[in-house]
Amino acid sequence: MSRFALFSPFLCIAISPTLIRAQATHATARVQGNAEAGQASFQRHCVMCHAVTEGVKIVGPSLYGEMRGPHAHTAASVREIIVNGKGQMPALGKQLSDQDLADILAYLHKQ
Ligand code: HEC
Repeated sequence: MSRFALFSPFLCIAISPTLIRAQATHATARVQGNAEAGQASFQRHCVMCHAVTEGVKIVGPSLYGEMRGPHAHTAASVREIIVNGKGQMPALGKQLSDQDLADILAYLHKQ
């Protein structure tokens, strides 16, 4: 038996947790947003500062049409603002899971 044949099962055991972890990371980056759950999250985390009615400013601007129409923001840029904050808006990344973020984006997409 060659040395490699003896060694290779150990190599597989060493590598596979890394592969599994890589797949798990990939899966969370692709969570499906649910607009109804997003509405509930929006009410918990955003509604004190943002309306989704056109032209209504609370602390922050209305998010009406934020992700639709000619001046639409991309999902990536809105996600970035939510996670890291912007100006007077606090960073909310630590309070929200990937699922919460995907849900909020799905909800905002319809406003
Ligand atoms: C404490 C108040 C506050 C909370 C809570 C808050 N925001 Fe904001 N948000 C702001 C302010 C103020 C701005 C304007 C920032 C600026 O442009 O300087 C803003 C800006 C934004 C923008 C960019 C708007 C634009 O077109 O420039 C988005 C998108 C946004 N907020 C989404 C959210 C979402 C989604 C949540 C909830 C997860 C949230 N915000 C929670 C205050 C808040």
